[in-house]
Order: sequence, then C-alpha cells, then structure tokens
Amino acid sequence: MSAKTILVTGANGEIGHGLIDYLSEYGGFQIIAMDLVPIDEAVKSKCHRLVTGDILDPHLLETLSTEHNFDTIYHLAALLSTRAERQPTLAHRVNVDGTLNLLEIAITQSRLQGKRIKFIYPSSIAVYGLPDLETKKKAGKIKENQYLSPRTMYGINKLYSEQLGTYYANYYRQLDAHPLNGQIDFRGIRFPGLISAATLPKGGTSDFAPEMLHMSAKNKNYECFVREDTRIPFMAMPDAITALLKLQAAPAEKLTHAVYNISAFNPSALEFSKILKEAFNSADIKFISDYRRQAIIDSWPEDVDDTAARSDWSWEPKYSLDKAFSEYLIPTVRKKYS
Ligand SMILES: NC(=O)c1ccc[n+]([C@@H]2O[C@H](COP(=O)([O-])OP(=O)(O)OC[C@H]3O[C@@H](n4cnc5c(N)ncnc54)[C@H](O)[C@@H]3O)[C@@H](O)[C@H]2O)c1
Repeated sequence: MSAKTILVTGANGEIGHGLIDYLSEYGGFQIIAMDLVPIDEAVKSKCHRLVTGDILDPHLLETLSTEHNFDTIYHLAALLSTRAERQPTLAHRVNVDGTLNLLEIAITQSRLQGKRIKFIYPSSIAVYGLPDLETKKKAGKIKENQYLSPRTMYGINKLYSEQLGTYYANYYRQLDAHPLNGQIDFRGIRFPGLISAATLPKGGTSDFAPEMLHMSAKNKNYECFVREDTRIPFMAMPDAITALLKLQAAPAEKLTHAVYNISAFNPSALEFSKILKEAFNSADIKFISDYRRQAIIDSWPEDVDDTAARSDWSWEPKYSLDKAFSEYLIPTVRKKYS
C-alpha cells in the first residue's frame, strides 16, 4: 500500500512536534511539514518535505497542492490566545483567513482526487465564554452547544473557523447547479490547555500550568499569573495527539458532531503547585494574578462534557491527573533538565 500524504501546518509548534513524532513512528505516512519558521532539527528527519512559508500565501499553498495529493490536512498553524489578544488583526488574518486558505486547498484536492479530504482542526475551550465566576462554578461540565460567547479574539476566530469548516463540509456553493457539498470531511476537537513535558508553550493563556512545571523542574522561581483557585481543564500532550489520530480514523457514519469536547483532568492552580512542590523540593511558586489574563481564564469553563466524543469515537484519556504527573510529566522533565 502506498504511503498516505499528510499536510501538517504549524508543524514546528507543540502539537506539531508530538503529531509528527507519532506519525513517523507509526509509519505509512508521507509528511509534508509547513511552518512560518524553519522546522526544528528534531522533527526534520521525520518528514518527507519541509516547507518554510506562510499559510496566508495562497500561491504557496496552490503550488503545494499541485505537487502532492493530500489524504489528510492537520491544520495546526495559529496565533494562540494571549498573542492574539495583543495582535488582534494579525490573529484574525492567521486564524481565520489562514484557515479559509487551507479549506480552499482541501476543496481543490477533493475535486482533483475525487474523494473527501479529511480536514482535522484543533479548536479550543476558548470558544466558550462564561459571563462571571458564579456562573462558571455553577455550570460545571459544559456541553458543545452551551455558552458560545467567547470574549477573546482567539476564541472568536476558533468558533468562526469551526463554522467555516462545517460550511465547507456541508453547504459549500450550495446554489450551484452541481454543488460540491460533502467533499471535505471536517473534524474538530476543542482542546483544553495542553501540557507537554518536551516543549514549552508560547503565547497561550493556559500556559501557567506548563510554565509552572518546566520552571519547577529547572529549579527556577515561578510567578503564576492566575489566582490559586483558578480551575480550567487540562490534558497531557500524548493524549491530545492520540485524540487527533483517533478522530481522524473514526468512521464518518459514527460522527454526530463536527467538533467535539474532550476532557482529562482539571486541578486548580494551587493543586498543580502542590504536586510540583512535592516532586521538586526547591520549587518556588508564587501567585501574582494578572487581572487581564485572569479575566480571560475566568471566562473559560471549569470542565467540559465529553460524552459525545466518548460514545462516537471511543475517546478516553490515558492520563488521569496522577498518572500524567507520575508516569509522564515529572519523569520526562526530570530527564530533560538533569
Ligand atoms: N497548546 C494548547 O494548549 C492548545 C489548546 C487548544 C488548541 N490548540 C490549538 O492547536 C494548534 C496547535 O497549537 P500549538 O500548541 O502547537 O501552538 P504553537 O504556537 O506551539 O504552534 C503554532 C505554530 O504555527 C506556526 N504559525 C503561526 N502563524 C503561521 C503562519 N502564518 N503560517 C504558517 N505557520 C504559522 C507557528 O510558527 C508555530 O510553530 C493551534 O491551532 C492551537 O490554537 C492548542
């Protein structure tokens, strides 16, 4: 069987690293890795082709599309929430126009190949917007169709891009005599905050948890920018990668949603710090809330209801909170910084 060609945008990012590692280990894939910045050495050798370029450059994307037949597009490139809030117009261009460019490529590829191209899209819990802390506490695990009033540029971009994907999958050019609807197989996951032991995030608002982990492991002080009682859902990076691959592989007829919540654990920031202080005796973590970033986190849910993902494509995290720290995060960061 010939290798399937996979396009990964944002390949140099945290999820890109994990995804490419997994795909190359698993075998049978020809990975075309694209990013604005040159791809790291660690990932280079695992890819068939490296493309340094901008998803806002339609000519580059069209050229790529004439040179390869993509089976699946993992569209990871984005500006994350904190960075997007600081550069909102750039964020809108990258997160929305960039996604539109990739959806157009997926449509072109579908037409050329005469089959539905899979488009895998990492969305975020930032699509939710809880009006105040009291509502957040009462709401508990929220479902995919609740509280969709994001208060950040990033959340708005993600929610709209989910809807664009759904439009391209079901209604694209619906007034044409021979409409092309149904040619993209769009599948999305609303990720919680992700924690990788291998890489550090840049520009997100859930970064306090991974930053706390890496700084503690490096014996450095850390000033956490949210209050001790702050609670949002998190997940270990390997589970996020598994989820993308599982959703990609799920039979289309089983899918009842275009975009799914997934959940693993949701400790408070204080609970996080306690685990780290136990693991790293010298960990020095102070809580100095930045009220602007805090307000963003306070608008995100305490937890999400992932019943649909569990029943439609057998989503189940491998890592509970205890397991994530004892079997993945702490041993891996210890090794990394020893
Ligand atoms: N990490 C998380 O906690 C998290 C949570 C929810 C959703 N997500 C989503 O998952 C995806 C990947 O996240 P990540 O954590 O790997 O982010 P990241 O910031 O580590 O990686 C994003 C990559 O996109 C690239 N990029 C940015 N603009 C580009 C452009 N114009 N053209 C080409 N490449 C460009 C960046 O250079 C970077 O390597 C994003 O869409 C993000 O919104 C991440």
